[in-house]
Amino acid sequence: MPNPGDALREANGRYMFHPMVDPKAVAEEAPLIIERGQGVHVWDIDGKRYLDTVASLWNVNVGHDRPEVKRAIVEQLDKLAYYSTFVNTSNPPAIELSQRLVELFAPERMRKVLFSAGGSDAVETALKLARQYWKLEGQAQRSKFISLKLGYHGVHFGGASINGNPLFRLAYEPLLAGCFQVETPYLYRNPWGETDAARLAARCAAELDRAIQYQGPETVAAFIAEPVQGAGGVIVPHESYWPLVREVCDRHGVLLIADEIVTGFGRIGAMCGSRAWGVAPDIMALAKGINSGYVPLGATVVNDRVCAAFDKPGAAAALMHGYTYSGHALACAAANANLLIVEQEDLPGRAREVGAYLQERLGEFMRFRNVGDVRGKGLMAAIELVEDRESRVPLAAPALFVRRLVGFAREEGAIVRVQGNRLILSPPLVYSKADVDETARILGRAFERAEKE
Ligand SMILES: Cc1ncc(COP(=O)(O)O)c(C=O)c1O
Repeated sequence: MPNPGDALREANGRYMFHPMVDPKAVAEEAPLIIERGQGVHVWDIDGKRYLDTVASLWNVNVGHDRPEVKRAIVEQLDKLAYYSTFVNTSNPPAIELSQRLVELFAPERMRKVLFSAGGSDAVETALKLARQYWKLEGQAQRSKFISLKLGYHGVHFGGASINGNPLFRLAYEPLLAGCFQVETPYLYRNPWGETDAARLAARCAAELDRAIQYQGPETVAAFIAEPVQGAGGVIVPHESYWPLVREVCDRHGVLLIADEIVTGFGRIGAMCGSRAWGVAPDIMALAKGINSGYVPLGATVVNDRVCAAFDKPGAAAALMHGYTYSGHALACAAANANLLIVEQEDLPGRAREVGAYLQERLGEFMRFRNVGDVRGKGLMAAIELVEDRESRVPLAAPALFVRRLVGFAREEGAIVRVQGNRLILSPPLVYSKADVDETARILGRAFERAEKE
């Protein structure tokens, strides 16, 4: 009897381009096709169950198949699936969500929201609003963006231009002019061999300062970074880093944009990553956890300072930016229900508590000889794989050991993700300590088996 899944797998390789992989590799290696999810688990088309240790793509924060979110989508669908928010039409769930976001980020003095359809859109919106802000302020020459090495900000031309990893840029160059990257506070690998986190934070902030001065502060629009770098390898800065960055930006009048697409809505133990570091940015890019991926949605929120430029009487401040799906009614209805769960179940608090346990259990993985570093904050973590601890030479993804590790983890019942030489964990925020134990057990088995072979 032919397995009906085989036809699907074959058609996938034949017809579909997958993001972030060489199509030839997809054709050679059958993909894992997920057909059902519930809570922190998903099932593939052959009926095998997996622990979703990555919340799909850092986003299914309230877990799969939440009745509250599904109900909100269906109720909205029964009334209205979509109506545009261009110019002077709107829809109720979008209005409700904009108010909710402004209230949620009142401590950061956020005042207005521009919706989009995902993280890359939210970043693009942030960059364009920053440029427009400076035009409205009469400083049109402030057009440059500075970001961090290893930063990931989505894939649009703006986001790719500020990306801090050449892999995401090379195939699409030439990119936007006037984008520069500075060192990131990466304790395990930094060009100074600095081993003290506070001193590294000071060095990195000083480098940002020098970069702004070198470019000429009057030409720099904004500095953008993730509160904890995600795709770059879960790089957690010292607590002094973000306050220092805010100070440098303020000294030069530069806008501070926080890419909160992964860290927004609880993942590192606070409602947003900036808050966890005690800093209020001027602009925040949001997506993913905003509605846990039930319907695509992005949002860019701006503070009083940015709004004031658009409010100036007489200013020609039309927002010539926005998407057909800005404020999509189903996406916003899903977000309203999702954010109610985030608040009612105190998912930031849960990420703090269960996250501390996750970090503790992952610390045990230093017993494996190919583990060079284990780090994280809240419910995001990375295990950095190396050839050996002395040399710290990265064990890259094509390495047999890494492929085996991912394969064995799957066999043992968990989906894990490898990015470069880092195994990344970003489970749903509804993860329990028992789920952490199960993750540690499965990963431990996968490491043992990979080491033995
Ligand atoms: C920090 C960060 N910014 C932006 C993005 C882009 O979001 P999207 O893939 O929804 O366009 C991502 C996606 O992983 C991200 O991690």
